[in-house]
Amino acid sequence: MKKKSNQRPFHQAFLIATLAVTMAPVAHADEMARRWMNQALSPDERAALAVAEMTREEKQTLVFGYFATEAPWKNFKPPQDALEGSGGYVPGIPRLGIPAQWETDAGLGVATQGGAKQKRERTALPSGLATAASWDPEVARRGGTMIGAEARASGFNVILSGSVNLVREPRNGRNFEYAGEDPLLAGIMTAEQILGIESNHIISTTKHFALNDQETERNSLNVIIDPAQARMSDLLAFQIAIERADPGSVMCSYNKVWGEHACENTALLRDILRRDWGWRGYVMSDWGATHSTAKAALAGLDQQSGNPFDDKPYFGKPLLDAVQRGELPESRLTEMTHRIVRTMFAKGLVDHPMKSHPMELSSADLKAHAEVTRRGAEAGAVLLKNDGGLLPLRADIKRIAVIGGHADQGVLAGGGSSLVYPVGGNAVPGLKPTGWPGPVMYYPSSPLRALQALSPQTQVQFATGADRGAAAKLAAGSDVALVFVTQWTTESEDASLVLADGQDALVEAVARANPRTVVILETGGAVFMPWIAKVPAALEVWYPGTSGGEAIANLLFGKVDPSGRLPVSFPRDASQFARAELVEKGGNGDVHYAEGAAVGYKWYDSRKLEPLFPFGHGLTYSKFEYSELEVGLDGEWVNVKFAVKNVGGRAGRDVPQVYASPAAGGWEAPKRLATWSKVHLEPGEMSRLSLRVDPRLLAVFDAKTNEWRIAAGHYGFKLGASAADMKLERSIELAARTWASRRP
Ligand code: GLC
Repeated sequence: MKKKSNQRPFHQAFLIATLAVTMAPVAHADEMARRWMNQALSPDERAALAVAEMTREEKQTLVFGYFATEAPWKNFKPPQDALEGSGGYVPGIPRLGIPAQWETDAGLGVATQGGAKQKRERTALPSGLATAASWDPEVARRGGTMIGAEARASGFNVILSGSVNLVREPRNGRNFEYAGEDPLLAGIMTAEQILGIESNHIISTTKHFALNDQETERNSLNVIIDPAQARMSDLLAFQIAIERADPGSVMCSYNKVWGEHACENTALLRDILRRDWGWRGYVMSDWGATHSTAKAALAGLDQQSGNPFDDKPYFGKPLLDAVQRGELPESRLTEMTHRIVRTMFAKGLVDHPMKSHPMELSSADLKAHAEVTRRGAEAGAVLLKNDGGLLPLRADIKRIAVIGGHADQGVLAGGGSSLVYPVGGNAVPGLKPTGWPGPVMYYPSSPLRALQALSPQTQVQFATGADRGAAAKLAAGSDVALVFVTQWTTESEDASLVLADGQDALVEAVARANPRTVVILETGGAVFMPWIAKVPAALEVWYPGTSGGEAIANLLFGKVDPSGRLPVSFPRDASQFARAELVEKGGNGDVHYAEGAAVGYKWYDSRKLEPLFPFGHGLTYSKFEYSELEVGLDGEWVNVKFAVKNVGGRAGRDVPQVYASPAAGGWEAPKRLATWSKVHLEPGEMSRLSLRVDPRLLAVFDAKTNEWRIAAGHYGFKLGASAADMKLERSIELAARTWASRRP
């Protein structure tokens, strides 16, 4: 579904634009001055006309961005027109009708910076992992459309979203913002979010480019990874997202890759992003990720973000001085400006200008958006275990014990720059850290109240869990015990997978008191579960967003069928990690991603390890069967056909997954996710699917020739319900095939 490029190459556009200006009859001055407002011209032609009118200082204005919130520790106040409390601001060129860029975080909704004087209360999506766990591109698209609408309604025309770093490291504190461990799933789901966001005529980023897969020493660590392995893992996720969604901007990351900071890394920013992938937007830095002027600009950085977070305003006056001295050619400054302005035209920022910047949104919008986020949370929850069909809860259940996780007040969110402040404020204020990267936020959507609302005749009682004896006593006197466990994770630090504050002991105590115990997990990602064999049921709801309590209640009572599938593997214990230490002790800051592209389930397969719960795993309240698997060639594409039938007693959604394996080996791991679909089926209903396989998923990347290569031979295609539960298999003979690094 590659977007057709209607853009002429830059030089052609420039020539046409120049001719248009010189040959045109002398029109009225301001009409001539505004030729670039002609929407019949391409974004490149319009940008060439506009940039040709700019002074050097005006060009520099567009490549230099400010933090938009006061930073007292830097003695910094943002420019007057910045939207206080938000992420960033780049002044416009009013003389030429080029608007300012008002930038908001992030991928979960319109965020507010911790130091803001006033909080924008907006709708929070469930975490990025929850959306990925829906395996439903429509869910990602709807969520992106909604947060993009809130961004536009709030007066922002750039949203710093599209987070697609792979969950390579289970301890990464930002995994909750990302889209899982597999490049195909992550790339497609992130692309859909970006498409949804940009349907609001605003720019979305995709970030953090690249290999920013942990938070420990994020500003200095140097990622060492085989270049070909990077192309088949982290970079493939970005490539799929970028080619499907064409985001307006890519945000380069804090870390180094192959010895150079990402924001001055020619291999990443010029060779891969531009030459190989042909992407035409602009590269902005992360906030404090710029480290030079001419070097960064010549390597491909187009805009420095977040002044004053860098140690110098590199793209401020130092950039003009570098041009003046001839250290940085003016033509490069023109190109940087052109990329920003063409993107503003291409994404509609100029033709659909911001009209206002309200602090409040309409209650009607917020009510409609609460429904969007609730459905997203329901679609992304993963039923990990359900022995004896304990769930769904019976409608006539008499007594429910709700224990722990502040479930009487609300549901947990993750920390850092992506944090959305909810309507109604923090349901559990004061939890530490209250300052950056906190606050620890609970959205005021109480699972307890939602359960009570669904079943007024049921006695629903709460125990905090602080007193394990009291919790066990309540559980013993109830028909079912619901234990909520939480794991707060955040940007700027990595996490432990061990549940904190004695939660494991609490689960064990409750399970001993009542064998009908369900554990509901509100976590940033995978966690260890030493008690899993002692509980009959477990439901992973991630950080479930603004309407998380209602979503949880709907799932537990079966108003909605759980349909999520794990986008990340859950390790049994730390021995299953790809690397023991996050940073090599006493090292020089290098982190060797020796596993290469063998991330997640690929790691487990290559080491013959069995995780606690595998990638792609998830139960439903119904039952599905697969049949009629066929694999064939459709031109140069492999086509996979099969049937799915709902053989259970209730409607539900299934996610049949197809994994490919080369009979002769030669990949980073025995198998790769090749394609999937999510289907809704009524009881007895059957659906026949026909899916195409992206050839890159059958190929190996050759970094020497910069090509993808499919080796001739037999390839197996397995149809399964997870990475560890294969149902049917067919194989096919493929001819050898080689092509350049862009998709054929
Ligand atoms: C942060 C994050 C980035 C965010 C930016 C602006 O440090 O790394 O994701 O968009 O700064 O808040």
